[in-house]
Amino acid sequence: MKIIMLGAPGAGKGTQAKMIADKYGIPHISTGDIFRANIKNGTELGKKAKTFMDQGLLVPDELTCDLVVDRISREDAKDGFILDGFPRTIPQAECLTDALKERGESMDYAVNVDVPDENIITRMAGRRACLNCGATYHIVNIPTKVEGICDRCGEKVVLRADDEPETVKKRLDVYHDQTQPLIEYYSNQGILKTVDGTQPMTDVFDAIVALLEA
Ligand code: AP5
Ligand code: MG
Repeated sequence: MKIIMLGAPGAGKGTQAKMIADKYGIPHISTGDIFRANIKNGTELGKKAKTFMDQGLLVPDELTCDLVVDRISREDAKDGFILDGFPRTIPQAECLTDALKERGESMDYAVNVDVPDENIITRMAGRRACLNCGATYHIVNIPTKVEGICDRCGEKVVLRADDEPETVKKRLDVYHDQTQPLIEYYSNQGILKTVDGTQPMTDVFDAIVALLEA
């Protein structure tokens, strides 16, 4: 099963993608997590990506497409994968479509997690992320068992640099401008599914599973 998670920043793509990846035993591929890991490790890619991410801007397509095409070509992705945060522009979507076409394949589902902008800013202010293993929490909705410590790996959880309210507003503008057109792109491909992302996390998950298994 090959799935794309679409949705605004903070819609819950990462939260749902991890649960879906666990349920179906497929890798969860988050370009945001890959960039953050590179920033943490001080790589050249990380240094380049950071300048864009900290401003709430997209990392250029040429730094992003090859990375994902390479990742989905690995052995563990041969029976499927879930993409979270990619594609984010029409050229990225075309790059993905073309790379899969070369192998005689195509994506199965694009799941749009729909959350209005009003809900996003409060969610992001409460989000805490583990920069070590990629786990995400929310101080009210999904707290860690021990305050400030990741349940999964024991590292500290932090407010992401791009979750400051002003940067979130910029990311929402970028989303509407560059990423939202993908909803129509995948609708035209006949694989778009939309879920109401304002429901509690487990209800969103059940709704996605129902769509995937319909
Ligand atoms: P990325 O890491 O992908 O960030 P994003 O798309 O802005 O999305 P988020 O991770 O912020 O939100 P999410 O939808 O995963 O929500 P989450 O599950 O955490 O990208 C970061 C940056 O990297 C980009 O701005 C860009 O610069 C760059 N980048 C990445 N990919 C790129 C690409 N392809 N091209 C170019 N640049 C790229 O949930 C949010 C919060 O809400 C959490 O606290 C969570 O616990 C809580 N929550 C989740 N579900 C619910 C619920 N149902 N009810 C209540 N709370 C909930
Ligand atoms: Mg995410």
